[in-house]
Amino acid sequence: MPSVFIKTYGCQMNERDSDAVAAQFIACGYTLAASEAVADVVLLNTCSVRDAAEQKALGRMTNVAATIRKQGRQVVLGYLGCMAQSRGRELLGAGVNLVLGTQKLHRAAELADELLAGRQTTLCDTEAEAGSEAQIRDHVLALNDSRPVVSAYVSIMQGCNQRCTFCIVPQTRGEERSRSIEDIVAECRGLVARGVKEITLLGQIVTSYGRRLIPVQDGKSPFVQLLEAVHAVEGLERIRFTSPHPKGYGTDLVEAYARLPKLCESAHLPVQSGSNRVLKLMHRGYTRERYLELVGQLRTAQPRIGLGTDIIVGFPGETGEDFAQTLDLVQRVQFDSAYVFKYSPRKDTPAAAMPDQVPVEVREERHARLLLAVTEIGQARLQRLVGQTVQVLVEGPSRKNPARLEGRTRSNQIVVFEGTPRHVGQLLDVHVTRASAVTLYGDPAILNPD
Ligand code: 5AD
Repeated sequence: MPSVFIKTYGCQMNERDSDAVAAQFIACGYTLAASEAVADVVLLNTCSVRDAAEQKALGRMTNVAATIRKQGRQVVLGYLGCMAQSRGRELLGAGVNLVLGTQKLHRAAELADELLAGRQTTLCDTEAEAGSEAQIRDHVLALNDSRPVVSAYVSIMQGCNQRCTFCIVPQTRGEERSRSIEDIVAECRGLVARGVKEITLLGQIVTSYGRRLIPVQDGKSPFVQLLEAVHAVEGLERIRFTSPHPKGYGTDLVEAYARLPKLCESAHLPVQSGSNRVLKLMHRGYTRERYLELVGQLRTAQPRIGLGTDIIVGFPGETGEDFAQTLDLVQRVQFDSAYVFKYSPRKDTPAAAMPDQVPVEVREERHARLLLAVTEIGQARLQRLVGQTVQVLVEGPSRKNPARLEGRTRSNQIVVFEGTPRHVGQLLDVHVTRASAVTLYGDPAILNPD
């Protein structure tokens, strides 16, 4: 049997896409290889959001191609996803014989077969394909062992129409296209039947879900209607979603937290900057005042809500005063977690051509300062949970210490504690005894007996 190895870069959407591609290969008779060195098909599912992500994939491919050349094996080497979409044919050569764009992932196994059988020598397909958003639906679930998969991602849409001036995604993922509610619910039901207890709904901007497809009903946006439909799936315990856009976060969605008990108190709400001037240059469509108001509304609806964000430092034209506004915003909000990125100019984006590009040293200095601030805030937030009892969905053995179990709270913090494999998939109340920088620990003595 031929085997496939898929390496993923970037976001959860990419992880989900890779899983669907792996499921497709399995359906075509492949096994999943343990490493590139033994696989017949090696695929890198790429990310283009920052230059560093592209460089990582390019470097890895160079190494893999060199190893395979030495081995003298006949292998399919391919790029999938965003960088494949934006660079296309130029990626072929030096051992690489397959390039597949973001709307062609469902054809990966079929095209790899063509190459393996020698019917083609190279293939590149980056065309748009109607209906491709509905093709990311198969799941591998139990990957390399038979442990049940408790938490799964479901892709609800593809593409983005927002056109933030820094972002390459509208070019790589295309226009927004949503799947139907029925299709998504059917996938969720199938997952629950296979033991999944928690589903995270995924899209570039989930708050835009179904905008042109489904009318607003009783003041509820299509996305809130979808949440209600998924909420009704019997046996599902928890729902999450990522990422919403602050602009699309209406009161219907804020209220959903108070109304839908399976909806976890957690939101990843990218703010990008705390300066109104920069937010405008970024084309974000909200002000810092509106963002702070939204945070207030969410904390009123669910006081224990966990809040995460993404922030870019060194956007073109960002002054010391603009950056001070970002520092001020993170102090006001007190995020539980935050990803801080140095601005990376992307090909054919409006921001790349803007005046006053910020020198690399300044970007680095701001990155370090902001990272320190958000890390301190996050640690203090985690520390506040010590002494409390939290609900944990047990996902499996701890990644750091497999003798222990690991799961997440409803507000998305990782908790490590002792238990037995039969606890996997259960919702447990765990008493938090201590917190490290990013992890909570529960006392086994106080763990529920069953
Ligand atoms: N430079 C740096 N960070 C970026 N992001 C998107 N585009 C860029 C860029 N050009 C960040 C944003 C987004 C996250 C996924 O990546 O913060 O929310």
